[in-house]
Amino acid sequence: MTRRSSIRFLRRGEVVEVADVPPMRTVLDYLRLDLRERGTKEGCNEGDCGACTVALGSLRDGRVVYQPVNACILLLGQLDGKELVTVDDLSRDGRLHPVQQAMVDHHGSQCGFCTPGFIMALFALYHAGHAPTREEIVSHLAGNLCRCTGYRPIVAAAEACCSGTAADGWARGAVAAARTLAALNDGTDLFVGTPDSFIARPAQAETLAQLAASHPDAVIVSGATDVGLWITKQLRDLPKIILTGGVTSLHAVAERRDHVAIGAAATYEEASEALAAIDPDIGDVLSRLGSTQVRASGTVGGNIANGSPIGDMPPMLIALGATLTLRQGHQERTLPLEQFFIAYGRQDRAPGELVWRIDVPRLNTDEAFRAYKISKRFDQDISAVMAAFKFRLDGRRIASARIACGGMAATPKRAARAEAALVGVSLDSPADWQAALDGLNADYAPISDMRASATYRMQVVQGLLRKALMELAGHKATRLLGARGVLAS
Ligand code: FES
Ligand code: FES
Repeated sequence: MTRRSSIRFLRRGEVVEVADVPPMRTVLDYLRLDLRERGTKEGCNEGDCGACTVALGSLRDGRVVYQPVNACILLLGQLDGKELVTVDDLSRDGRLHPVQQAMVDHHGSQCGFCTPGFIMALFALYHAGHAPTREEIVSHLAGNLCRCTGYRPIVAAAEACCSGTAADGWARGAVAAARTLAALNDGTDLFVGTPDSFIARPAQAETLAQLAASHPDAVIVSGATDVGLWITKQLRDLPKIILTGGVTSLHAVAERRDHVAIGAAATYEEASEALAAIDPDIGDVLSRLGSTQVRASGTVGGNIANGSPIGDMPPMLIALGATLTLRQGHQERTLPLEQFFIAYGRQDRAPGELVWRIDVPRLNTDEAFRAYKISKRFDQDISAVMAAFKFRLDGRRIASARIACGGMAATPKRAARAEAALVGVSLDSPADWQAALDGLNADYAPISDMRASATYRMQVVQGLLRKALMELAGHKATRLLGARGVLAS
């Protein structure tokens, strides 16, 4: 397959080609430093505040879909084959875009620093194809922080302009844009740089696997929501970067009868519907994972590959009994997901080996699942504790249990003693649950850090197990935090 040496993307109706770009160049630096376009702002530079939000158009089922993404932690190579829209593109012929006009009309801006990010997040919502509810608007904007206007007028602006029918230049140019994106996604492999310093975005699975195998020192990047911070915060030098996102098959989310197969490059946004169909608790957790921007870029595979002890996905996937397939060159191997996490910062992945697919079993009719994310803020926060439980029931007794937690050990970890203590326990005898609750003390030795103390973590995880058992026993389920952080039942 042909190899290409320039990044190609669509902007303002034209195809832009960028060659000779350093591997670590972010989209934000490209806009502000290279192009000297300063409308897009730099706030936190780590994907938290949304001031740098731009919209990325991708071809999906023949039409262009716009998503807000954080430009500060988006690598320029990730633009390949996409359409880029920034705040500097919106007003035309001296007239504001409908989203901008609504923000003016509803007084949605004071100092204005956050405003370009809100505008671009709303641009994506304006093109969503339906009129969002107030709750959808609030959730959509959870990744945009404003420190002076307050959110009420911004939400009012969103309600006023996002009617479900887009009537701007992008709507009028939708067919041409889709045609251009289809032409740009021609299956060619992108490789910009030299063998010693490059950013590559193969389109072919074979090329990706071979390139990773022949450059075991390269950093593999899917969404860059984590690696982006290595660049902007840790100031690390990453001379070789291989992007997984160009391989279409790795975005696949296949819904089989007994399991869901998730390609390693599938974003949270792409995978969430299928995962939520396994159990609604997964959907609840995913709706609070990062922000709209983070879920549009971050991937389930990346969350596993980086081995974080506080990632939200691994505990749920381990409790469900997911398996992980890795690929090195032509060789594939599969292992239970929990075995992938060896120690803090150490995973069972050889240099040059790629996380390739995650298979997540569906629940059987005699199984029940619960997952709880505990964090200081409702949205866009790192968990203090993430706990997931799967129980197989024999009538009113527990036949077997799988418990996995994040934030309780140096890796996402199962609770073997508590699981064993639950076997045979009746849901109608809460006194018998105590051995399992005590078992958690032996299973985990959490640390105290800025998010929570060790004592708090242990009390929380014991409380969550009790809560899960009470819910199973038939007590009315009380959600820890309902919609938008309001205590609900
Ligand atoms: Fe804050 Fe990018 S600058 S999210
Ligand atoms: Fe000042 Fe939002 S208008 S931070």
